[in-house]
Amino acid sequence: MERSIARELLEDSHLPQHVVARAYRDLDRIHRWLGNTAAILRLLREDPVPVRRVLDIGCGHGALLDHARRRLGVDVVGVDLRPAPPSAPVPILTGDAVVDPLPSADVAVAVCLAHHLSEADFIRLVHNVSRSCRRFIVLDLVRHRLPLVLFRAFLAPFLCRLNGIDGLTSVRRSYTPAEMRRVIGMALKETGGRVRHTVAPLYIRQVVDISW
Ligand SMILES: C[S@@+](CC[C@H](N)C(=O)[O-])C[C@H]1O[C@@H](n2cnc3c(N)ncnc32)[C@H](O)[C@@H]1O
Repeated sequence: MERSIARELLEDSHLPQHVVARAYRDLDRIHRWLGNTAAILRLLREDPVPVRRVLDIGCGHGALLDHARRRLGVDVVGVDLRPAPPSAPVPILTGDAVVDPLPSADVAVAVCLAHHLSEADFIRLVHNVSRSCRRFIVLDLVRHRLPLVLFRAFLAPFLCRLNGIDGLTSVRRSYTPAEMRRVIGMALKETGGRVRHTVAPLYIRQVVDISW
């Protein structure tokens, strides 16, 4: 399957606020059902150096940071291209994480952001994060037929129409494990750093864990 360059419906900057809020709420539910939230919290909890501040890049309305703050007691900050509503549960800055200076934090995470980026921008994002964080955890989808079939059968029926469509587009836009390893390898040529790359059973997610 070729990597798709189709845009996702959620990328439309003219969507009404309530539609966007519903989509981010659905995403939070999906991450909890699939164990993505638990996987990120576990990695943060097991960090050998105490984590005081977590930065979520492409954080949407901040649901993951809200979980991290409540469950781990860490300080949190988010960054997203789309301005967050005043009711967001955590502080969220508006900006392009590929090029804008990022707030400093012990650990940065990015969940379902990588597939939005070209390889060149993904590499620039890794370089940008390396300037202000000592660790970067990237969790994303895997481009493979199995998650497409599973998403259509078991998740899409429970989601709003927008996420039902975007979920399939996201899988088609995501990196295969081999592509992910190649791109991260290129990114780390310049900054150095150690990387651990894991792929979950049934290809439901892949996690890249970079330490500098
Ligand atoms: C699929 S959503 C994922 C949201 C959230 N991380 C989650 O998993 O529920 C991707 C998010 O990344 C944001 N985004 C895309 N490109 C970005 C960039 N260059 N800088 C900051 N945020 C970006 C989008 O606005 C969107 O909120």
